[in-house]
Amino acid sequence: MSKILHIKTFGCQMNERDSEIMGQLLARSGYVYSDAPEDADLILINTCSIRDKAEQKVYSLLGQLRDLKEKKNTLRIGVCGCVAQQEGVKIIERMPHVDLVVGTQQFYQLPALLARLEGGELHQAIELDLAGDFTIPSYREVMQDNLPHLAKSTLAPVQSFVTIMQGCNNFCSYCVVPYTRGREISRPFADILDEVHQLVAQGVREITLLGQNVNSYGKSNAVAPQSLAFPDLLRAVAKTPGLVRLRFTTSHPKDLTPTLMRCFAELEQLCPHFHLPVQSGSNKVLARMHRGYSAEEYLDKVAELRRIRPDIALATDFIVGFPGESEQDFADTMQLLHRVRFHSSFSFKYSDRPQARATNFTDKVSEEIKSERLARLQGLQNEISLEWNKSSLGKKVEVMVEHNTTPKTPGETPRGRGRSAANQVVHFLLQPGQTMPAPGKLIQVLINHAGPHSLRGTLLDSCNTPSSSIHG
Ligand code: 5AD
Ligand code: SF4
Repeated sequence: MSKILHIKTFGCQMNERDSEIMGQLLARSGYVYSDAPEDADLILINTCSIRDKAEQKVYSLLGQLRDLKEKKNTLRIGVCGCVAQQEGVKIIERMPHVDLVVGTQQFYQLPALLARLEGGELHQAIELDLAGDFTIPSYREVMQDNLPHLAKSTLAPVQSFVTIMQGCNNFCSYCVVPYTRGREISRPFADILDEVHQLVAQGVREITLLGQNVNSYGKSNAVAPQSLAFPDLLRAVAKTPGLVRLRFTTSHPKDLTPTLMRCFAELEQLCPHFHLPVQSGSNKVLARMHRGYSAEEYLDKVAELRRIRPDIALATDFIVGFPGESEQDFADTMQLLHRVRFHSSFSFKYSDRPQARATNFTDKVSEEIKSERLARLQGLQNEISLEWNKSSLGKKVEVMVEHNTTPKTPGETPRGRGRSAANQVVHFLLQPGQTMPAPGKLIQVLINHAGPHSLRGTLLDSCNTPSSSIHG
């Protein structure tokens, strides 16, 4: 009889991809995925520790799961990812009902560790090694028989993430990643291409290449063939027959080269959407963050990107209230946002992280000031995002269909959802006589409503659209 697996994933896209792979690995040991934790024989929590209170969230969830375990003593509970790496044995000390603690480089050991638990060889399993010589197993080793996607992904089945590297060598002073994910390790070129080809053969149309700092792909460890860099990888992936859209994240501004920028003009599949975290507009703060660029250098790169690809949609990350951030430093950040007019941004209040250097900085900014600055920054970003989105009103936008919903009540207009190449979420309504396009299809939508976070419109052409209903 098959066993039931439930995975709860926190945090970044890298974690989402890792959870999918855990699901696929465990499918080979007979696990079937379920969305319901109460049905599960094994619950895995894939954790993130990038910002504040991550550890508390995990402990409180584990506290809630204690009741489930009391009702079903065969239930096994595992903690994986960055909080597992960071807290290690402390998790089991505080939460003795946890059976497994598995670090960021060790989740490939899950089937073997579970077998040892089942066989009674281990009572509780902890595997945290963050070795310098770690190699990421190839997709073929992990997948073998083209197993279906098992862990719940937030992506449509036509989209997939592909991890190209793990870890980070940058040591930004606020960041925990180099400590939880270890040093940078790039996957071999051939493994990545193989994974992309297999995914596209299974029906995936859009790939996002993932890494903490994709621009330094291939620099830290030799990737065969030698001397290949990230732009070479992008070019090779873009050639995959059947791949419609290609994206990547995350890039570090200091490593953004002219060659990579030119890819946005040269590669048809590469979407004109670029996430380039700036963090702050103040040179003093950027230096203390150990970011390796100035606001002026960042702005020059933005100008060059826009020269090369005028329709590029730029997104970024900001941290407000970094230690020592004065009102003037924050004004510099607001000024940078005014000048660049990012299409969207993620913004966070600075929080201390274990081992990160800024945790020891003494000139912390109060919570009250951080909240007030965050609200001002987000208010301005929302205005700018809305303006960008309004510039699509009355225009045709190409959308890749991600989800469609069948109307629950008769007479309700069928609707679907997708994304523009610039990464805007687009909701669309069908007109009478039109058939719902399948996920993965590229459609034209006439935009008639714009909000700060999404667009809405009507489907213009699909194979079955009567020509009379096509608007110009
Ligand atoms: N405090 C607040 N935000 C942080 N980030 C990373 N570390 C911290 C921290 N200690 C943000 C950065 C990064 C994003 C993934 O999370 O903006 O780009
Ligand atoms: Fe963290 Fe900086 Fe590395 Fe990004 S580049 S993962 S912020 S250390």
